[in-house]
Amino acid sequence: MRRYYSGPDYRRAQSIAELAVMARRRLPHFAWEYLEGGAEEELTLRRNRQGFAEIALLPQTLVPCSVTQPQRSLFGRALPLPIAIGPTGYNAMLYRDADIHLARAATERGLPFTLSTVSTSSLEQVVAAVPEVNLWFQLYCLRDPKVQEDLLLRASAVGCTTLLLTSDAVLLGNREWDKRNFVRPRQLSLRNKLDVLCHPRWIAQAMWPHGLPNLGNIERYLPPEQRNIEGAAHFIGSQMDTGLDWDALARLRDRWPQTLLLKGVLHPGDAEKAVALGLDGLVVSNHGGRQLDGVPASIDCLPAIAAVTKGKLTLLLDSGVRRGTDILKACALGADAILLGRATLYGVAVGGQAGARHALDLLAQELRLALSLLGTPDLNQLDRRQLCATSSTSFTVS
Ligand SMILES: Cc1cc2nc3c(=O)[nH]c(=O)nc-3n(C[C@H](O)[C@H](O)[C@H](O)COP(=O)(O)O)c2cc1C
Repeated sequence: MRRYYSGPDYRRAQSIAELAVMARRRLPHFAWEYLEGGAEEELTLRRNRQGFAEIALLPQTLVPCSVTQPQRSLFGRALPLPIAIGPTGYNAMLYRDADIHLARAATERGLPFTLSTVSTSSLEQVVAAVPEVNLWFQLYCLRDPKVQEDLLLRASAVGCTTLLLTSDAVLLGNREWDKRNFVRPRQLSLRNKLDVLCHPRWIAQAMWPHGLPNLGNIERYLPPEQRNIEGAAHFIGSQMDTGLDWDALARLRDRWPQTLLLKGVLHPGDAEKAVALGLDGLVVSNHGGRQLDGVPASIDCLPAIAAVTKGKLTLLLDSGVRRGTDILKACALGADAILLGRATLYGVAVGGQAGARHALDLLAQELRLALSLLGTPDLNQLDRRQLCATSSTSFTVS
């Protein structure tokens, strides 16, 4: 009997880049651009990859390396790898219940999963589906203090003790593809509607039968007649607090005594302020090149930030991580761990939970191999002496 074509098989992907190719084939154009696109000229998006490429590794030889130790302890919990899945909004546009699939994949591999404020599954749905998840919650500062307080109470109620406040997206970056693809908020252009019809498998796996999903965490704050994705998009747009400042973060610090991180730091002066406020950690991030175009790669900002935060808080990095060697380079330059954005999204878009797990496994295998080949099998022994400055790198080696 002829087998029904079931699309690209994630198991054939040998790298995150190959998973991305498969995701591109599977998704309609507008959803692919949402996942992959950056702001304006995408200078920063490209720099994120270039930044990693320009750091060279300097191996030491004749080091026994059959056992690697890529473990890390983060906020009092031992992790098998220096990885957490970072927050990404509207994931169910890629695959139905994608937040839950990502949470399951992370949990299977003993890693944290971060749920976005603008996720499609709610905090309660994720924890009901994956009770053992190590759940982190990403907060966008909202104008209505009652809504924000309710979100914090809900995060606590489901057992989430790690909160990331994202500070680099109080205004949405200039994403031209978004304006092209949607004629009105969440209303696809005719061209995109026709393109969707060419992707029956995506329709079956993501859209059928309920259409575009709503924002799970936000839905309950909308008036009944606006409980649809258009209403939610409008609500979020009007709720983003453009007045967010260091005083607001200090108040959040008082309000949230558990683990608190600031996500979206590139300037060492901001890292100093984060230390002074007593934050537990920060994420060196340019939002995957989706916000202010033209800022440096996160990896290029890391050394200066690590210099001012060393031993004072936990340092995470995201933006452009696609290889085990990228993780290794980030850790050598002072990161305690990295957050994954698109890497696991490609996986979930192609194969749901198993696809996301495959992305994590590819990175884990690459990281282990790279630690061995570098002659530094223990991740905790890694520092910038295992890196080699090239003509284009800005850090010093020792
Ligand atoms: C599709 C998509 C949605 C995102 N949504 C959010 C979000 O809701 N909140 C947030 O703090 N960051 C969000 N980000 C940024 C990610 O958390 C992360 O900073 C970025 O993806 C890292 O870059 P990378 O994808 O190149 O690894 C999003 C990124 C992508 C690609």
